[in-house]
Amino acid sequence: MSVDANVLLDAARKSLERAYAPYSRFKVAAAVLDDQGRVYTGVNVENLSYGLSICAERAAIFAAVAAGARRITAVAVTSSAAERLSPCGACRQVIAEFAAPEVPVFCDAPDAPRRWSVGELLPDGFVASHLAK
Ligand code: THU
Repeated sequence: MSVDANVLLDAARKSLERAYAPYSRFKVAAAVLDDQGRVYTGVNVENLSYGLSICAERAAIFAAVAAGARRITAVAVTSSAAERLSPCGACRQVIAEFAAPEVPVFCDAPDAPRRWSVGELLPDGFVASHLAK
């Protein structure tokens, strides 16, 4: 694991207690690094109207974008589960909007974190050229 991985995973772990997950009781936190070296965190925020809940990964990316970031260069995710989590499909598409295919996604686990790339998590995804007329 690179230094970025440990820094980012620690930032996510520190945020985990702030996850708002009273319905699933499954807490998730994410940290993203931008191309200026800034770190942004996010947690899952659930809602009584379940479908309105947002995942930690998207919360982190939206916080980064709202602060002015446009390029994400690393992602880390942790959760309260005993098993390793990897980002859901919706979050993979949102990560791919701001991160190149080679960008690492570090997924925490009690034994050892695992590194995937954005391209591995979303092969053959929906890309801007599909919108070209
Ligand atoms: N969740 C995330 O925050 N990230 C994922 O990648 C998968 C799922 C959240 C959504 C919901 O609050 C809870 O985990 C259970 O699905």
